[in-house]
Amino acid sequence: MKTADINPEIKDDELFFKIIELVKTRKPRTIVEIGSSTGLGSTQAFVRGILEAGLECQLCCLECVKPRFDALVRNVSRHPFVHCIRASSVPVSGWMTDDQIAEFWHAHPDLPMRRFSVDMLQRWRREDIAESADVDHDGIAAACRTMRCDRPDMVLIDGSAFSGMAEMKATLGTGTYVLDDVWDIKNWDAYSYLRTHDGYRCTFQNRGVRNGYAVFEGSDV
Ligand SMILES: C[S@@+](CC[C@H](N)C(=O)[O-])C[C@H]1O[C@@H](n2cnc3c(N)ncnc32)[C@H](O)[C@@H]1O
Repeated sequence: MKTADINPEIKDDELFFKIIELVKTRKPRTIVEIGSSTGLGSTQAFVRGILEAGLECQLCCLECVKPRFDALVRNVSRHPFVHCIRASSVPVSGWMTDDQIAEFWHAHPDLPMRRFSVDMLQRWRREDIAESADVDHDGIAAACRTMRCDRPDMVLIDGSAFSGMAEMKATLGTGTYVLDDVWDIKNWDAYSYLRTHDGYRCTFQNRGVRNGYAVFEGSDV
């Protein structure tokens, strides 16, 4: 069973400060953070951007692992504009299948996930699914209902390594995407999809931070 004992990942690094800058300049009214963990990493960047810019903005944090979710609530509950939802982002039917994981592994010899075996990746997928077995699988839909929007203005995709594409598709039309781990299995497909999407342009990317991150902005927002 996973615990709350996990270090914040997006913390005081380039992506952390990029999130603050994006919030201040794009001025979103609704944000969904997929994979909030204990709320001490990327969540703090969103909160800081909202507070410093004085925005009327709601932030929905999705986290499915109970001890992390409990810590998240403790860490952000003083901010009335933050909603914490214990749910999985999207139904498992949209996640990468075992076959797709194997196919991806063989097609991408240069990506960091190659240091793990296909078996290992497939085992992690099963573990991620098991970790979210006791929660609803409509987290993104629940976030949109909570914030009364059709789709959020800004989305961070930083949840399971096997659901990035499904999460991007479930939020397509959002104004700004922040994708972590774009040079890895988590967000490579979503990154590749958005790069060729007429409605989006990649406004920033850096391969040098962990497994890379990228920002995409919609052209009609
Ligand atoms: C890479 S960590 C997030 C790190 C965090 N953004 C930070 O800056 O510290 C991924 C988190 O996503 C959560 N998670 C995994 N699958 C999820 C899902 N389907 N829906 C919501 N959260 C999920 C995990 O429990 C984990 O806490």
